[in-house]
Amino acid sequence: MSQTGNNERAVFATRFGAIATTVGSAVGLGNIWRFPYEAGIHGGGAFMICYVAFVFLIGIPLLCAEFAMGRGTRSNIFGAYKKLRPTHNWHLAGYIGILASLLILSFYSVVAGWTVEYFISSVFGNLNFSDAEAGHRLFMELTTGWRPLEWTIVFLALNFLILIGGVTKGIERASNILMPLLFVILIAFCINSFTLPGFGEGISFLFHPDFSKITPSVLLGALGQAFFSLSLGLGCMMTYGSYFKSDNRIARTATTTAVLDSLVAVLAGVIIFPAVFSFGLSPEAGPALVFEVLPFIFSHLVGGGVWSALFFLLLFLASLTSTVSMSEISITYFCEEKKWSRRKATIVSSLIALAGGVLCALSFGPLSHMKIFGMTAFSLFDYVSSNICLPVGGFVCSIFVGWFVDVRFLRGQIKMHSTAGRFVLRLLVFCLRWICPMAILLILLNSVGFIG
Ligand code: TRP
Repeated sequence: MSQTGNNERAVFATRFGAIATTVGSAVGLGNIWRFPYEAGIHGGGAFMICYVAFVFLIGIPLLCAEFAMGRGTRSNIFGAYKKLRPTHNWHLAGYIGILASLLILSFYSVVAGWTVEYFISSVFGNLNFSDAEAGHRLFMELTTGWRPLEWTIVFLALNFLILIGGVTKGIERASNILMPLLFVILIAFCINSFTLPGFGEGISFLFHPDFSKITPSVLLGALGQAFFSLSLGLGCMMTYGSYFKSDNRIARTATTTAVLDSLVAVLAGVIIFPAVFSFGLSPEAGPALVFEVLPFIFSHLVGGGVWSALFFLLLFLASLTSTVSMSEISITYFCEEKKWSRRKATIVSSLIALAGGVLCALSFGPLSHMKIFGMTAFSLFDYVSSNICLPVGGFVCSIFVGWFVDVRFLRGQIKMHSTAGRFVLRLLVFCLRWICPMAILLILLNSVGFIG
């Protein structure tokens, strides 16, 4: 991305750069940490099938819609709604985006902080063990008490420095090389999964759908996960779309992003579940799952310490490319709508995230008794943002683009420099008008208990 001045808009220099950056936003802790634990608590196969269906039926059309709105208006989420429909209050949807992006940034930084802890423990050789108790003990030791606070702050500070220093370019370049490396490592770990005694059981847990297990909460969980993983619903992809050049083929970029992102999530599942069953752990461990299981995998690999250090380092970098994209939502809003300098916008956004981050970091230890609706700050922020704000943001975006914006706008954006045929367009419009809003609404209402 090249930044041309303080408040001027940047553009992605190359098509590859644009795809690498959108994939960089999508691939992160959502795939490697959140997907396995959500799949684990929601019954494996039943969750997986809903997740994949949502990525294709809702995720790809909404990615196209966000990209088109961004590139067509060259604006942040507020500006995009306002430019396309100045007379109504559609842009208020932007508030959901900003609020949720800051909530996500808060708890995401805590988990990213854990990756730093685990990286350091790997370097010092403290991460090599093979009994279940030890894995659990280490997780508790590293994540309870005041300790996670340090790493959350360190992570947010790094995120801040990248945003303020305008070194996004450096991060992008690094991630263009490192993300393919993460992919290669994941494949190597997958191959290792074949050798584990629980391979069959793990794979069947993940890929064998038991349709009777599809409950409202599984549907909501899978929907929230699809949105979270694709960075959808908050205007994050809209903001990135606003940096696309006109030769970017939107439909293709959307499909590539969705396919690569889901592939990483599935690979993570293939790595985690065979190990879960091999070591006699429960797939329902929640947010701790991946962090308790991975050290076992490493202890069974030759040179496990090196693998684990490398893995946590790459995961940390993947998280950084995601948090940079998340922060961009509120920063572009403050810069473009409030006319703040980028510096001020970055400082204010980071301070809000820091306040939330402190609450989340302590919610496994000193603040674990502080519960709202029976959830700690960490779980509440995750639940509200992923399962409510993102789907609501996606709902608004789909009916907006499907019904309230002249269809020629979408057609123009999709057809720009692209050979996308009439069928693709019709399918896209149909999904945005009917499938996305109806599915999201039904799932949300269903989970509140109004119907079904
Ligand atoms: N998709 C990222 C992940 O899977 C997280 C993320 C980045 C995100 N930007 C977002 C989630 C915007 C929701 C909205 O790790």
